[in-house]
Amino acid sequence: MAEIVLDGIDKVYAGGVKAVDGLSLHIADGEFMVLVGPSGCGKSTALRMIAGLEDISGGTLRIGDRVVNDLAPKDRDIAMVFQNYALYPHMTVEQNLAFGLKLRGTPKNEIKQRVDEAAKMLGLDPYLKRKPAALSGGQRQRVAMGRAIVREPQAFLMDEPLSNLDAKLRVSMRASLSQLHDRLGVTTIYVTHDQIEAMTLGDRVAVLRDGKLQQVDTPQRLFDSPVNLFVAGFIGSPSMNFANARLTGETSEAFVEFAGLRLPVPADVFEAKPDLAGYLGRELIVGIRPSDFEDAEHAKPEWTRIPVKAGVTEELGSEINVIFPIDAAPVVHKDTADLASDATDGEGEDAALPLLEDKALWTARVNARSRVRPGQELELGIDTHRLHFFDAGTGLAVGHPDAAETARRLGVPEPVAKA
Ligand SMILES: Nc1ncnc2c1ncn2[C@@H]1O[C@H](COP(=O)(O)OP(=O)(O)OP(=O)(O)O)[C@@H](O)[C@H]1O
Ligand SMILES: [Mg+2]
Repeated sequence: MAEIVLDGIDKVYAGGVKAVDGLSLHIADGEFMVLVGPSGCGKSTALRMIAGLEDISGGTLRIGDRVVNDLAPKDRDIAMVFQNYALYPHMTVEQNLAFGLKLRGTPKNEIKQRVDEAAKMLGLDPYLKRKPAALSGGQRQRVAMGRAIVREPQAFLMDEPLSNLDAKLRVSMRASLSQLHDRLGVTTIYVTHDQIEAMTLGDRVAVLRDGKLQQVDTPQRLFDSPVNLFVAGFIGSPSMNFANARLTGETSEAFVEFAGLRLPVPADVFEAKPDLAGYLGRELIVGIRPSDFEDAEHAKPEWTRIPVKAGVTEELGSEINVIFPIDAAPVVHKDTADLASDATDGEGEDAALPLLEDKALWTARVNARSRVRPGQELELGIDTHRLHFFDAGTGLAVGHPDAAETARRLGVPEPVAKA
């Protein structure tokens, strides 16, 4: 096992495409790190450079205590699992698992022991004598994992290993993967564009866009404290709601005004985000997560109420998503532009929302007991302690502790406190 350290890693493909741009990540020994981001953001390229399948154009890559930039893949002591795992069709499961070790000249009894262990761990023992054609998709993917496990490498690299499986199988494989990682404790870098997979598997998640690291943090902190509009919109499903707004009043009694609404901004929000006071009397972008709404009948008494007219409702059993128009145009910003185009290849629920007479559509996630019906008036409560604010120019979260560092990395103007 080993830590993996990327220091300013670049990849420029022939033809000049800069697929990875100054990527720095410190993946601790035994950590499960997820790389997530929209299609084409450079996830696979980054992983392939770590594996040694792609040359590194700039920066240094360290695995354990060795710089491995120029080391051949076979000497890096890592095992890779791809989306399109290729099993040998004429070999049994057992032979598939043993094959790599055999090539390396591992002693017979050791091969048997490692294969048996991996098979047990993955629930493959009943299938050891079968050939791949006689296995389900999930079982085949388990064999592919097993081939990586038997090698006992310093690290696992996985590129969307579950994306060929159906939704239900993905959920159960996700659980197996987590257990496996707990059991083996091997440093793992896992690529996906599915943010639910990222959030459920990762100790930490690195969000990439256009080859650049946006933010790396625990799933909970990415959700609670996204560093910019892009991360805010990408992490969380349904996505965060945004509106162009104006901050008015003073810190002791402040309001955020948008779409004909006026929400009080509690004093503790100013305490948590000291830079916010500098935005009083100015425009910014407000963000509210669907989960920070509730049907007023079920909301805490101190939550602020707003009247809305429900459009579509999605009854999910455990909760209801209420989609409603607000009296404002959708936010247009470079950080939100990619989100709509990428959402369509997700799970479907995020598919770019149609515009209603140029009005932004927002989503509230309310209690399943709510009596909301499509087309009806509804009062919603909002937890204003959890409002998010973003600079309308840079898209950076106002008052985020990493905002200045992120600005430097992304090449946008650093936030200046304007009191
Ligand atoms: N061999 C190549 N030559 C030139 N450009 C490439 C090559 N491979 C990838 N690219 C480009 O590099 C960028 C990053 O590609 P990459 O495959 O790393 O993205 P990704 O994040 O894995 O996307 P996806 O989620 O679709 O798998 C893309 O713009 C892609 O077109
Ligand atoms: Mg990829």
